[in-house]
Amino acid sequence: MAILFTGIKQLLTLTGDKAPRAGAAMRETGMVKDAAVLVEGGLIEAAGTWTSVSHHRLAKKARKIEVNGVCLPGFVDSHTHAIFAEPRLKDFSMRTAGASYQDIKAAGGGILSSIGAVRRQSQHDMARQLAIRATGFIECGTTTAEVKTGYGLSLESELKMLRALREASELTPLEMLPTLLAAHSVPPEFNGEAQKYLNYVIAEILPKVAAGKLAIFADIFCESGYFTPEQTTAYLKEAARLGFKPKVHSEQLSNYGGTLAGIAAGAISADHADYVNAGDIGAMRAAGTIAALLPASNYYLGLAKYPPARELIAAGVPVALATDFNPGTCPAWNMQFVLSAACTHCGMTPEEAICAATVNGAWALGIGDRAGSLMPGMQADLSFFEADDYRELGYYFGANQCVMTVKKGKIVYSR
Ligand code: NIG
Ligand code: FE
Repeated sequence: MAILFTGIKQLLTLTGDKAPRAGAAMRETGMVKDAAVLVEGGLIEAAGTWTSVSHHRLAKKARKIEVNGVCLPGFVDSHTHAIFAEPRLKDFSMRTAGASYQDIKAAGGGILSSIGAVRRQSQHDMARQLAIRATGFIECGTTTAEVKTGYGLSLESELKMLRALREASELTPLEMLPTLLAAHSVPPEFNGEAQKYLNYVIAEILPKVAAGKLAIFADIFCESGYFTPEQTTAYLKEAARLGFKPKVHSEQLSNYGGTLAGIAAGAISADHADYVNAGDIGAMRAAGTIAALLPASNYYLGLAKYPPARELIAAGVPVALATDFNPGTCPAWNMQFVLSAACTHCGMTPEEAICAATVNGAWALGIGDRAGSLMPGMQADLSFFEADDYRELGYYFGANQCVMTVKKGKIVYSR
């Protein structure tokens, strides 16, 4: 049965080209006041002024829901590490005592400290835990999230993470797109021999994940102490050859060359981008690579420096925003907080931030033709907020203003 959502004070349709939005187009929200949205068969049938939508042939018989707030496309969180077994509270304490992310790694914390519990956890428990976390995303208005592996770092445990993700997808309405991040760090068994470990990933893990169709994307952490730019390009090229879409963690802690290395392998997005320089920005623009910025991780790490969103947008690079939800650098899943961090610390306008968190997030996952905006025929993924003005989303930070979430035309959360 069709559903007609009425009483929408501001509807942000994000109407525009079916392409990543760049430059001034990032500020075009497609806002309609006194609006309504009609959904049918999981898709947007009509979205516009109440007067226009109410005349639609399906409107009369539709179930009517009065919402009285702001409506957006559901957030598309294009970068998360949502599968992990335990929080890293020791890292947190160390950081509050002044240790940096690099200091924490040197002291035995960091990514490798997450692998023990992940390797011990059963697939079923992992799936249940992920499904519970997914509820948190849904309640904050996120309807699609990318989810990475990378805390197992062995064939068996990386496969377990991907299978748990698949299992969890049956337990939650959150759409989760899987990424293999076996190249997240060098596991202890390889004694710091990064190339030897990558050879193992290429020979043992990539082909099995590809054969099982368990992941869409392959990602790598290109940073000093992790993997080099040369390794990044070679690894991602091999992954692309097997059918994965490449992504890269680049220029997070330093300007190390991950952006160019990712672009050389055809990366769909280069993520973090804190330390990108003019050359990186020019190359991203030329290649059409999306910059996925993760400012909530800068906030959590207490950094003074944030990704240079203004330079990226001025240069015409499409910018996406995501949480980076993970136990080490960003234990947060609320995209509304990411909007706040982007506006307050990256100088993004509220309009740009919303575009980055919806339509450009969808393009960073290669699904912008079906999600991220509210044009007729698109997936009916909607988020509703108790607000009079969409700018309140980034303004009242730390709160959850989401009151209802709709995934593929179904109400999956209502406060
Ligand atoms: O995106 N930089 C690499 N990966 C994560 C952190 C992972 C962790 O510390 O557990 C990130 O920040
Ligand atoms: Fe990350």
